[in-house]
Order: sequence, then C-alpha cells, then structure tokens
Amino acid sequence: MIMDINDKILRTFPNSKNELIRIIFGKNEMLYLNDKNYYIDLTGGGTSFNTVGYSNRRIINKMVNKALLISHADFKTTLDEDREKLAELLLKDNKISNEFVYFAGNSGGEGIEAAMKLSYQTHLELGYSKRNIFISRMESYHGSSTDAIAISDRKNLLIYKDLFPCNRYKISDHYFIKNRRIGETKEEYTKRCLDEFEKKILELGPEKVCAFIGETIMGGLQGFIEPCDGYWKGIRDICDKYGIHLILDEVICGCGVTGNYYCIEYDGITPDFLVISKGLTSGYFPLNAVLLTRKTYEAISNGSGRTNHSTTFQGHSIGCAVALEVTKIVKRHIFLKRVQKLGDLVRQKIESYLKGHPNFIAVHGRGLRISIEYSFNNMISFADYFRNLMKQKYKILLDVKWHRILLSPPLTISEDKLLSSVEKICLEFLNYKE
Ligand SMILES: Cc1ncc(COP(=O)(O)O)c(C=O)c1O
Repeated sequence: MIMDINDKILRTFPNSKNELIRIIFGKNEMLYLNDKNYYIDLTGGGTSFNTVGYSNRRIINKMVNKALLISHADFKTTLDEDREKLAELLLKDNKISNEFVYFAGNSGGEGIEAAMKLSYQTHLELGYSKRNIFISRMESYHGSSTDAIAISDRKNLLIYKDLFPCNRYKISDHYFIKNRRIGETKEEYTKRCLDEFEKKILELGPEKVCAFIGETIMGGLQGFIEPCDGYWKGIRDICDKYGIHLILDEVICGCGVTGNYYCIEYDGITPDFLVISKGLTSGYFPLNAVLLTRKTYEAISNGSGRTNHSTTFQGHSIGCAVALEVTKIVKRHIFLKRVQKLGDLVRQKIESYLKGHPNFIAVHGRGLRISIEYSFNNMISFADYFRNLMKQKYKILLDVKWHRILLSPPLTISEDKLLSSVEKICLEFLNYKE
C-alpha cells in the first residue's frame, strides 16, 4: 500500500487530518482550492496575522527584489537600509514614547523571551541582580518556547510544567464581564485587579520582581478583551512605584489591527518593552521586533555593551524589507482610521442583530480584531456546529472555540464583503437551536 506522505507528517491535531484544506492560492481575504472553490478567510490566516491580504503584489515585489540582492546578512555585523527604514517607521509618530527597537528573531514567542531577557539584563546592568521574578496573567498566551509557555496559561501546556523555569507567577486575567462581582462597577473591578497585582508584588518581594507581562487586549484565548479605562495606567503606576518593568505583548494586537498602530496607544501609557510580530509582516515572512525605552538602551550600551539574546535570523534582511513595505501600507492615518471605522460598524451590526438574545453575551475588540462572546449549555457542540456550518454553507472560515467567535479579517477587506459576512454570522447565530 502506498502511504500518503501526510501520514508521515506529525501535525498539531493529527486526528483532524480530514479537515485540512489544500490551498492553491490566495487573493486578499480569499483562499482558493482551485479556480472555482474558495473560502473567505475571516481568521487572518488561521491565527490573526494577515493584515494586507494574500498575494499583495506590492509586498511580493519588494520581497523578490530584496531576495535578488541578498538572502540575509547578519544583524549583528552588517547594516541594511530596509532594516534602518523599518526601525525609523516603527518609532515615528507614535502616542507612546519608546525610542529604540531590537529585532529579536522570527516568532512572537521568541520576541517575548527576548523582552524578558532584556528586562532582566537591564536590571542587572543597573545593579539589581535579585530581580528574576516575572508576573503574568491567567488566560494568557505568549508563545510556545519553554519560558513563553511558563508565563502563558493553557491547560494543554501543563504537560510541560516540570520543564518550566521557576519564579513565574500569575494574577487574574482582566475581563470585566467574566470576573465582575454582582453589583461591581468597572472602576471597582479595575481597583480590585490593581490591588491584586500590588498584593502579589508585596507577597513576592518588590525588590525581586523583574517585570509584569500582559497582552494589551487579552487575545486569542479570551477574544480581544479590551481593558477597563485606567487599568493599564494603574498597572504602569504600580510598576513605576516598585521599579518593575512592564512588557506588553502586542504580537496579536499590534501593527495596526486595532486601528492604532500600537494597541496601547488607546490607553495612553508607555511600556518598557513592547513586542510585535504577526502583523508586522502580514505573514509574508516570520519576524518580530521589541520596542525599548532609552533607559534600557543606555543601561546596556553604557554597561556590558551587548545583548546576550541572539539568533541567526534576527532582523532578517528579507523579513525587514517585507515588514517595511507592510508598515508603509498600514501605518498611515487614513488606513488606520478606516480600520477603526470598519471595526465600529461591525460591532454595531453585531449588537443590532444579537442584543437581547439569551445566548449572546457581548461583542468585544478594537478595530478589526473582534469577538462575539456567547454562552450555551453545550459550548463545544455549538462551536463545532457553527464553525462547520459557516465553512460548508457560506464558505466562510471562522475561528469558533470555547466561548467566542473571533473575527480577524485582513485590514484590506472590502466593507461590503465584511458586513455581508457578519450579517450571515448573526442570522445563523439567531437561527441556532440548542
Ligand atoms: C498574544 C500572543 N503572544 C505571543 C504569541 C506567540 O507567537 P508565535 O506563535 O509567533 O511564537 C501569540 C501567538 O498566537 C499570541 O497570540
């Protein structure tokens, strides 16, 4: 018997091999199986990375032209004009005041680990050698390297728990609708979250805490949950009070997807480290970047004079050229305004259809990273049914899991296409009987 080569490829979900779709080509938000069969991809490539659409000619031309010049020249020892222009663009005209950037490698999780190491090193260079504790939040996801999973919170990751580094602690997630007590206001809830954070710091010893790590809006696991007003300002103040760094994970919510280039611009604070990845290159090349403050830059350059995190493909020449072109498209006022406006329209449409429905809890998100939160007696059966229904009946790919439907369209999707898809989602939601 001839064995299918796919039987020799171990996949994340080996048992759902039959559900895999063979994509031949993509165009903006469309994925084609052949000339006639297609899907409308509202998952942003499966994991919310697609920002400027599939087969974007401008990006492809840039990528090919760069590859014709150079495959990759080492970040540590060479200069590259596209990398420099990218750094300039990432740091220009932001409402946050991070002035420096580090290209740490390829995946989001690698960027998170680099930020943790840079945070630790900054303290060390400044003479604080005891700060080796990181505090993160429940229901977070920061990547799949060993330290990134240690600060994340997913049940399946616990099989690795004996490998986790020590000195990693968690506080509650920040999710008003889910965690509020009866009668509690948003202000009271926010204060409770901040008190919990400060209490944890005092319990662990403020002089031992290195950094707090959080996703600016709680991402894929929870469903783009926006923080209450004053939450990040409060976290920033507590970090400052005890000399603790704030690391923001914008791997999924940075790079324009929320309608500000950096999501934290909505909250008016500056983190010590801000990590971006997915949308940075829209999936055309793996790349991450970590924004830094002057304090870190100077601590390292005036101290030991080197970073100790390094990878072969950090600041990849082709990756930076691609990221430069994607950023030139996305980081324009008119483009970001459209993302905000379209996101607002989608949320309003969802509210207008579903408000008052007993299984609809809320619509969440910023810009074009949106979720519909629901509650059914059998959540798994709703999620499986709904995902398959949208796929079979309307050719719409949707991420439906746990308690939420995620919408992560490319930011270049047309208003008509997006709103008509959202209408179908809402009508089918209303039709669903448990
Ligand atoms: C918020 C967040 N951080 C980090 C990561 C890890 O990124 P990567 O899978 O590229 O390592 C992800 C991936 O989904 C993410 O959503």
